Amino acid sequence: MATISTRLVNSSIRKLRLVVCGVAKRRLYQTVSAARHISGIGGENKQKFIPTALQPRYFQTSSALQEVVQFKLSDIGEGIREVIIKEWYVSEGDKVSQFDSICEVQSDKASVTITSRYDGIIKKLHYDVDGTALVGEPLVDIETEGAISHKQEEDVEVDISSKEQRLEDHAMQMTTSGRKVLATPAVRRLAMENKIHLKDVEGTGKDGRILKEDITRHIESLDHGVSAFTGKQVAPQAPISPPKADRAPAPTPIPILRAPAPVGKDYTQPIKGMQKAMVKTMSMALKIPHFGYYDEIDVTTLVNLRKDLKKVTEKRGIKFSYMPVFIKAASLALNQFPVLNSSIDDKVENVIVKASHNIGVAMDTADGLTVPNIKNVQSQSIFELAAELNRLQQLGSAGKLGTAELTGGTFTLSNIGSIGGTYARPVILPPEVAIGAIGRIQAVPRFDRDGNVRKAHIMQVSWSADHRIIDGATMARFSNLWKMYLENPTTMILDLK
Ligand code: COA
Repeated sequence: MATISTRLVNSSIRKLRLVVCGVAKRRLYQTVSAARHISGIGGENKQKFIPTALQPRYFQTSSALQEVVQFKLSDIGEGIREVIIKEWYVSEGDKVSQFDSICEVQSDKASVTITSRYDGIIKKLHYDVDGTALVGEPLVDIETEGAISHKQEEDVEVDISSKEQRLEDHAMQMTTSGRKVLATPAVRRLAMENKIHLKDVEGTGKDGRILKEDITRHIESLDHGVSAFTGKQVAPQAPISPPKADRAPAPTPIPILRAPAPVGKDYTQPIKGMQKAMVKTMSMALKIPHFGYYDEIDVTTLVNLRKDLKKVTEKRGIKFSYMPVFIKAASLALNQFPVLNSSIDDKVENVIVKASHNIGVAMDTADGLTVPNIKNVQSQSIFELAAELNRLQQLGSAGKLGTAELTGGTFTLSNIGSIGGTYARPVILPPEVAIGAIGRIQAVPRFDRDGNVRKAHIMQVSWSADHRIIDGATMARFSNLWKMYLENPTTMILDLK
């Protein structure tokens, strides 16, 4: 069981201490405050941070025992200066308790749930949904009762092992106007994207849980695009996102749940969240001279092998796609060509070859393209990689990928073939130096050694490498080795550590 004991060291935000409010020790899961009232949490899997009143201002209200505390958005590190409010879980006038979820915010790196530090009444939300909240600026005002808990803070040992369950509990519940609303994160996101307030929707699921169908029914019942949330005309917007988790092997028609935006009407939408990160990263990538290398791979044996392995992993509760094998084969090939798992320093004077194979997986999530990475692939089994990929996909579809998952990648694979397509021209993710895009596996005719036509499962791979330090021959040799492992998957056994 992991326990963390901390001591406040200095006022640097990088040196965090764990602080819990004494009144809520039994309910604690993880509270990380930085020195001098700056707080933020970094969790390995999910993240929650609790806004601390930075040099808080207290307003006396009519009752002598009541105070209004102004929370300011705390520093979450990674140089993040602003976040987008994805969803409010509370409204003005709602009663909140410590550790109740207040809102979901999206930085250009991760999605984070903010929880209350106090018991009290929400007096003011400082932003609308989609508003940009700045670090250090007020987020919510809460009227607290009696002596407020910041006076009762004390350093304690924090058991973080119970964090996951509590985060799940919070993710399933929201307080709106005094009643609990049950909905999954995907449903909440759907509601948020369509500016629907969940308390206005009748849930038809168990215990009144709001289902996706309830949201779509609610949208249909709205009077020609008038938002039930704001009461204003909803701007023409993109149709509701199709359920991305239900990805089928063949390209499937996208269900259209709402009429497309009227033709001929321009509208503006801000670039924010993950999209903003994409702008930044891809602009940096433009400076890299890309070298492209393409090949086709006969994965017939692997296709058959996966059928068997899939049955086994299903019994262990893990979905098994081709990706874990692609990833492991890449790691085994990187052992022979470590320069492909490197970065170039800022002055372009040195190549830093990375010891860990932290292989990024381009992921199509509800928040758009994101690239979480699997750490230390070199020391993980294919089954472990499958389990980790399952976990990342679940976090991705819930919009819960955190900084831990999204940073530190050293090499990337993009399986565009899970959506469709044969070739892609992948763009390197700086500071990495190579990336591979995998096309769709297709059953096509090929000749065998005797010249007879046979059915083969063929897949294309497109590599891009930083031509400043990677030459074509190195890329080709790496690709050949990766191809050899995939065409003869049993040979991987020989090189597994
Ligand atoms: N060819 C044929 N079938 C494929 C395939 C491919 N290249 N890749 C995946 N599949 C199959 C899987 O095996 C699985 O089949 P099953 O239902 O029989 O088990 C099915 O498609 C769904 O797979 P998926 O859930 O997508 O898992 P995955 O491990 O193959 O891929 C991700 C995981 C995260 C890579 C994928 O979900 C994703 O997001 N891909 C898009 C990446 C992207 O957007 N790239 C562009 C970057 S610019």
